[in-house]
Amino acid sequence: MLTYFTNSVPNTSLRIPHFLSPQAPTSNPRAKMMSSSLPENRIVLGCGGVVVDLLAAVASYPKPDDKIRSTSFQVQGGGNAGNALTCAARLGLHTRLISKVADDAQGRGILEELEADGVDTSFFVVSPEGNSPFTYIIVDNETKTRTCIHTPGYPPLVPEELSRSKLESAIDGAGLVYFDVRLHETALVVAKEVWTEASSVPTALLSMLLKLPKVKFVIVTLGEDGCIMLERSHNKASNSEEMCIDEVFESLKQKAPNDDSKPTCVSSSVVTLKADGIGTLCGRLHVGTAEKIPPSELVDTTGAGDAFIGAVLYASCVKLPPERMLPFASQVAACSCRALGARSGLPRHSDTRLAPFLHEGSEIAGLVP
Ligand SMILES: Nc1ncnc2c1ncn2[C@@H]1O[C@H](COP(=O)(O)OP(=O)(O)O)[C@@H](O)[C@H]1O
Ligand SMILES: [Mg+2]
Repeated sequence: MLTYFTNSVPNTSLRIPHFLSPQAPTSNPRAKMMSSSLPENRIVLGCGGVVVDLLAAVASYPKPDDKIRSTSFQVQGGGNAGNALTCAARLGLHTRLISKVADDAQGRGILEELEADGVDTSFFVVSPEGNSPFTYIIVDNETKTRTCIHTPGYPPLVPEELSRSKLESAIDGAGLVYFDVRLHETALVVAKEVWTEASSVPTALLSMLLKLPKVKFVIVTLGEDGCIMLERSHNKASNSEEMCIDEVFESLKQKAPNDDSKPTCVSSSVVTLKADGIGTLCGRLHVGTAEKIPPSELVDTTGAGDAFIGAVLYASCVKLPPERMLPFASQVAACSCRALGARSGLPRHSDTRLAPFLHEGSEIAGLVP
């Protein structure tokens, strides 16, 4: 799930990724020079998790006390923010990441891999002691599931470890700031309020935009079932009638082509959407479909959500409308599902599988690195 805030941090935070448009300070001459020579909004700052993923694919999931062999094995970078920013960097954005590793073999590997992908790691905190975070991932070829066992890094990152000047340099020139799932305590409170009282996913999205008036849009991804996006609108509704959000959702779903294996998006016009007992909102609902990946090509869905988010970061920077952003993000995520792990399948901007989504209009083509 994604939310996008227009300017300042709201009182509540969610256990979901969200983006902010920072007020860029102007104290760092290096970053100022960089930002002036690049298109606006092309620098993205991320703050969140990075790990080492130890991936083992198995023919079928083991029972307790079984001894089995893997069918393939990989060690590669992972973590929500690390994956999403790697995806954005491969698509052509300039990315900076704030996170923490220990000065151990895993930590050094994490940094090297990010740097090889063009992610700026100079804002990382490197702890001289402790351990870097890592995750065992069992990818079951039979059920196509990925089971994760995570060991957090120690000692954890605390705000005092980031000096004011480092923070200002990190933010300087950034068009977007991306946070992953680290704000879990407040997020739980919001999730409890929003999700438990909502009778359906579209209703939950409506409830969220009503409770968080600065949020511009919310997206929920649903694996192979695609995604739903609710976008707030400041334009007038196309007709004065209030429409039940669940009914609008059902009618959009009916319109989504199901003979097409490519990701698509079906959108409502600007309407007044209502949910009983919750309220009304002027906005647009978008239903995105996922690519239908043949079972023989579906390798591993680890990091699909992060790939989707990385593509949304890119699409936001080049101001793609939702109708193009959702199919593009689904396509990037589908590419990532065709290789083991969260990183190895992430496509680059030049990948021919992205071409039909990149060259429809001129906006994206203008950002080719
Ligand atoms: N099995 C799949 N087939 C096709 N696309 C998929 C599949 N799983 C995920 N995706 C794509 O990745 C996006 C994010 O996946 P999702 O499973 O919702 O995220 P997460 O990684 O958080 O579990 C989906 O909206 C879809 O576009
Ligand atoms: Mg999934």
